[in-house]
Amino acid sequence: MAERVEIFEVGPRDGLQNEPRAIPYTDKIALIDILSRAGFQRIEVASFVSPKRVPQMADGEEVLLGIERYPQVSYAALVPNLTGLDRARTAKVDEIAVFASASNGFSQANLGCSIWESLERYRSVIDMARVDNIPVRGYVSCVTDCPYDGPTPPDMVGLVATSLSEMGCYEVSLGDTIGKGRPATISAMLVEVLRGVPAERLAGHFHDTCGRAQENVRIALAHGVRVFDAAVGGLGGCPFAPGAPGNVATETLNARLVEMGFETRLRPDVLEEAAEFARGLRDG
Ligand code: HMG
Ligand code: MG
Repeated sequence: MAERVEIFEVGPRDGLQNEPRAIPYTDKIALIDILSRAGFQRIEVASFVSPKRVPQMADGEEVLLGIERYPQVSYAALVPNLTGLDRARTAKVDEIAVFASASNGFSQANLGCSIWESLERYRSVIDMARVDNIPVRGYVSCVTDCPYDGPTPPDMVGLVATSLSEMGCYEVSLGDTIGKGRPATISAMLVEVLRGVPAERLAGHFHDTCGRAQENVRIALAHGVRVFDAAVGGLGGCPFAPGAPGNVATETLNARLVEMGFETRLRPDVLEEAAEFARGLRDG
């Protein structure tokens, strides 16, 4: 039987957060409703962050309350603090993600605080989410390179990933935020991370800035990682990481994984439909 690899669709969040054009929430809902038919187990659909910082994600409530809920899909949202958790809970999110960085420069730009201050903040978010049985995923950004601080030491990634895991994140997604990772740096980083978090609780989140995301997925597969974040149509980027365009495109990654003999349980025809719709949103 073919081995399973899961693609976690992040296009409606990581993809659309960076769009310069205001996208009506009805279009976001239409995209998510297509994606829900594709066979995903998890789709990241919104962020409950400061609307002043990321105006494109200000309508998380409308999106979550407007989508058609497929019972087999867990609809996820980013949460930076307790205010975000309250909003996510009211919008009936299925799971949340907290997001830290392995570099201080990006932490300051993205969250306005140091790595360690962000982890302290997340401790209370994770504890409160646990009270309501809301699963929490964790992100570590800048796992190989930071747009402000340069190369990231692998042991910092290990420390942050282990902290998130120990605080209660059921999975830690490793973000190559600006897509500068290379097989050698991804591999060195994974060796460190795997000392504290087993491969079954890790995911790869590779932006495709330099066209190396697929290669980096191969390296992560060789280290035992079996979950990868991707965005339909290669949408994506982070407004606080200059040079962080598209995530690896879901439809391309899916085709590669299937070619490699993995089972993804996704429908390529629906992925194409979603990618076309997503490209339409991007191009106006
Ligand atoms: P802050 O501005 O530093 O400070 O926010 P604050 O906590 O004092 O809040 C300032 C204002 O924001 C206040 O309003 C708060 O009420 C409001 P005011 O009094 O000025 O009217 N506020 C909120 N409003 C709604 N929902 C909230 C919320 N929180 C505060 N949750 C904060 C600190 C962390 C909130 C802010 O810096 C922020 O929202 N940052 C988010 C940045 C972000 O979303 N970045 C993109 C996602 S990360 C990413 O893309 C990387 C990833 O894909 C992985 C990878 O690729 O590596 C995940
Ligand atoms: Mg990202």
